[in-house]
Parts: sequence; structure tokens; C-alpha cells
Amino acid sequence: MVSAEQTRARILDGRVTSDQIKLEVAAEVARWSAERAVKPRLAAVLVGDDDASAVYVRNKVRACAEVGIESDQRRLPASTTTEELLSLIRELNQSEDVDGILIQLPLPGQIDEATIIKAIDPEKDVDAFHPSNVGLLAMGRPRFVPCTPAGIIELLDRNQIGIAGKNACVVGRSQIVGRPVASLLLQRDATVTICHSHTKNLSEICLQGDLIVAALGKPEFVTADMVKEGAVIIDVGITRLPDSSKKSGFALKGDVHFASVSPKCSYITPVPGGVGPMTIAALMKNTFKACMDKN
Ligand code: GUN
Repeated sequence: MVSAEQTRARILDGRVTSDQIKLEVAAEVARWSAERAVKPRLAAVLVGDDDASAVYVRNKVRACAEVGIESDQRRLPASTTTEELLSLIRELNQSEDVDGILIQLPLPGQIDEATIIKAIDPEKDVDAFHPSNVGLLAMGRPRFVPCTPAGIIELLDRNQIGIAGKNACVVGRSQIVGRPVASLLLQRDATVTICHSHTKNLSEICLQGDLIVAALGKPEFVTADMVKEGAVIIDVGITRLPDSSKKSGFALKGDVHFASVSPKCSYITPVPGGVGPMTIAALMKNTFKACMDKN
């Protein structure tokens, strides 16, 4: 566990902030549901037996219970075909009771992910992965904001960390995090650079960053020599590495080398307990919004 004493940086504690948000959402859901006698409902679909994905889905379902959102967990075998998953999505799209649909990614290799995402009713697409929701976000008129990027912005806002005018360096260009978080930071008036596997002088570009979002999925990639004094560091990575000293047999590593970077920066998110809980809080907000928009 990381403590503030080990570092000069202030820890951006996603657990504390997400607990606060969940309390707020719970109060709103309770008031809203009491007036209408309907409760929001999330369908969470897990395909296959990836341990990490199972943990994420379990945490999402648990958060639903905490805020008064009903949940419906569907588990499908690793051998599921695209057609079989499409058939479940059609059922969930048509169900009057389901407000939000979440298909945990990644999907097993035989399933065509793009076809699956396109099949989700955009109004139930609480992950905001559907092309029409991606387009609305890019235009600055989001229906839903994707959960991890939304959680990152909220973590910054709730810790009074300004975005406008900052040099923001996003490392990674995934559909789930890199691209949408860059778009949101731009909409909040940051000057945004997106770095990726073909970027030349990546270290030099990171060194210009007042804010670095590390979202490339390579453990401890961002090291102290890539970070400017006083920068704000958001670590989205979470990789399981074998570690025989742990009861679980693995350790969770972020994309940032915490020990060397934290003495240099002003704020940093820990892994675990930083961005992950914020993603879940944002999912709760999106699911409640989907329900309110429908009713
Ligand atoms: N896999 C990694 N992050 C996410 C997420 O935010 N939503 C879903 N559905 N799958 C993911």
C-alpha cells in the first residue's frame, strides 16, 4: 500500500472520491426512484473466464447495489460466438427493464468486437463505445462520457486541479481511454499531445507535460526522467505481474514507475485505488442518466 509519507506528491485517492460520488448518486437514485417507483437497471455481460475481467464486473455489480441500481449479471462461456452475443444484446436492447448495457472488454478473439459494440442501443450504451456516442463526444455534445475518461476529469475537478491552459500529454491512443480522454482534455482547453508506439522523442514530449495521462498498458513505462517537476500524473494502467510474495500470486502494476515518479510530481494516482474506482463511479452516473433519459 502506498502512503503519502513515501512521496512528496499528493495522492489522488480514487477510492475516497468515488465513495463520495457513490453517496451522492445513491441519494439521487433514492429520491428519483421513490417518486416514480422504478429503479435503474444495469445489465453487465461477461464473456469467458478472464480473472481480471471477472473482478471488474463483480466490482461494478457491487457498486450498483451500493447506489440502489438493480443489476443483471450475464455470464457466457469463452466459446460464445458473435451471433450468440448479438442475440443476447438484442434481448437486452428490447427489454423495458434494462437501462444500461455493459459488455466487459476484451472479448474472446473469435468475437467481432466492432459488430458487438455497434449492436448496442446507443441510448443504453453506458460505456459510450457505440460509434454514434463516440461521434457525439468528439463533437463536444456527449450523450454519455466513457467511464474512465469521465472518472479522470472528475478526479481532477474534485481535487481542484485546473485543466485549461495546461500542456496535457496522453500516452496511449486506445478507443476506451487515450482518444476520448484527449478529446475531453481538449474540450476543457488543455493543449493536448497524444503519444503512441510510433511517437519519436516520447520522453521529451512527456517532459513538457503539466499533466500526463499514462494509458498504454505497459507496466512502469513512465519513469522519473520523463516527468517535469510538479507535473500531475494520472496512471490508468493496471497489469497483473506474477509475484510469489503475494497471496494472490500477482502484483498490480500501473503504467507509471510510482517510486521514482512520485517524489517529482505534485499529484499522482495510485494503482490500485486511483483511476479504477473512478471508472466505476462514472458508470453509476451513466446508468442513472440512461434511466432518467428513458423515463
Ligand atoms: N475493459 C476495460 N475497461 C473497460 C470499460 O471501461 N468498459 C468495459 N465494458 N470494458 C472495459
